[in-house]
Amino acid sequence: MIRSLCFILLLCIMESQVTFASESGQPLKLPQPETRGDMSVEQAIAGRRSLRHYSGRLALADVSQLLWAAQGETHPNGYRATPSAGALYPLEVYLVVGEVAGLPAGIYRYRPAKHDLIQLGTADLRRELASAAHGQSYMQTAAAVLVITGVYERTRKKYGRRARRYVHMEVGLAAENVYLQAQARGLGTLLIGAFDDERVQGVLGLPDDHEPLGLMPLGPG
Ligand SMILES: Cc1cc2nc3c(=O)[nH]c(=O)nc-3n(C[C@H](O)[C@H](O)[C@H](O)COP(=O)(O)O)c2cc1C
Repeated sequence: MIRSLCFILLLCIMESQVTFASESGQPLKLPQPETRGDMSVEQAIAGRRSLRHYSGRLALADVSQLLWAAQGETHPNGYRATPSAGALYPLEVYLVVGEVAGLPAGIYRYRPAKHDLIQLGTADLRRELASAAHGQSYMQTAAAVLVITGVYERTRKKYGRRARRYVHMEVGLAAENVYLQAQARGLGTLLIGAFDDERVQGVLGLPDDHEPLGLMPLGPG
């Protein structure tokens, strides 16, 4: 009895701190997300546009807020800022950093439960990422690029053939949250769906089952 309880406890701990083989860096704690702002939801919806001209840096507080809007936890039970079919959370969010105050260039994975980042690599990958997205050059000048990936298997286990549909819906929900959060902070973004999946996966060194589904350049306009 005690052995099985210990086993269940161990499984719970592993589940809440999923790490991958390539993640050796120190976690970088992000500032606490703000839940109050100066702009109403209506104003953010009305003003939102896709931005294709970027210049300037992001603050760490901006990055914290944008990641939280995409997939941050908003409930003690682990529920997140965006809805998820069966609360299975198939999305994994990565951040390609170029010019963020307090964050060295490189690629990072966001961990919602800890609201932190794990650095996976130190190269500035913005140029290669733009090239893998059919030369969409605005990714080179954005301060950072948020990469939304999907792990279909997490949803497929419960929902079978409908899983792909659900995962794609969730990407849309996360992306819109990022758009509105960017707007509310006087920043810009853009959801990019046109890219070469395999090249993006290769440039970023993503695990095979983390399929890139959306790229979002971030920064001031
Ligand atoms: C699923 C999806 C994929 C998109 N892919 C791209 C893209 O690859 N490149 C791009 O410049 N814009 C892309 N966009 C942005 C649209 O072009 C943009 O939303 C549209 O022109 C309307 O402009 P607005 O977002 O400013 O309202 C995409 C938008 C969506 C929803």
